[in-house]
Amino acid sequence: MAGHPPPIPPLAARGHLAVTEEELTAWGERFGRAVRPPLLVTLSGDLGAGKTTLVRAICRGYGVPNDVTSPTFTLVHEYAGVRSVVYHLDLYRLRGPEELANLGWEDILDAEALVLIEWPEHAGVLLPLDHVPILLQHLPGDPTRRLLYAGGHVGEGKFGGHA
Ligand SMILES: Nc1ncnc2c1ncn2[C@@H]1O[C@H](COP(=O)(O)OP(=O)(O)OP(=O)(O)O)[C@@H](O)[C@H]1O
Ligand SMILES: [Mg+2]
Repeated sequence: MAGHPPPIPPLAARGHLAVTEEELTAWGERFGRAVRPPLLVTLSGDLGAGKTTLVRAICRGYGVPNDVTSPTFTLVHEYAGVRSVVYHLDLYRLRGPEELANLGWEDILDAEALVLIEWPEHAGVLLPLDHVPILLQHLPGDPTRRLLYAGGHVGEGKFGGHA
C-alpha cells in the first residue's frame, strides 16, 4: 500500500510541474506519440489525481481508437493500438498479489505491449522494477492543477532500460 506521498517541493508547486487538465492531456498525448513497446508505465497518486485522465491522453496519442474507460471492476482493459496492444490496469480493488495471476499478469508483462498501470503499489513485489514511474499529486489550494512527476526509469531488462 502507498505510504505518505512525498512532500511537495515549493518550487515544483509554483513551477511548470503544476499542470492544468488541458496541459496534462497535451503532455500525455505527446508522451503517447513518442513511446514504443514494450513499455511498462505506472501511474501513482491519490483518488482523483488524474491517472485515468492521463491514461486516456496517452492512449489517444498512441493511436488507440476506442474510448478509454476506467477498468474499475474488471481491473484490466485491453485495446488494439496502432503500434501494439495496450493494457490498462487499475489495481485499486485488487484483493492481493495472488489475484494478479487470474488477470493474466505474466502474459501481460511478457507481451510486446504498452502497459499502463494505476495503483501499481497494490502489485507489491510482483511489479517489475523495470518501468517508467509517473506520479500525480493534488496541489493544496488549487483544485484545477496537479503536480506531474515523470521519469526516473528504473531497472534494466525486458523493457529495455539502462539504469
Ligand atoms: N489538472 C488536472 N489534471 C487532471 N485532472 C484534473 C485536473 N484538474 C481537475 N481534474 C479533474 O480531476 C478528475 C481526475 O479523475 P481521474 O479519474 O483521472 O483520477 P484517477 O487518478 O484516475 O482516480 P482513481 O484513483 O479513482 O482512479 C477528473 O474529474 C478531472 O476532470
Ligand atoms: Mg483512475
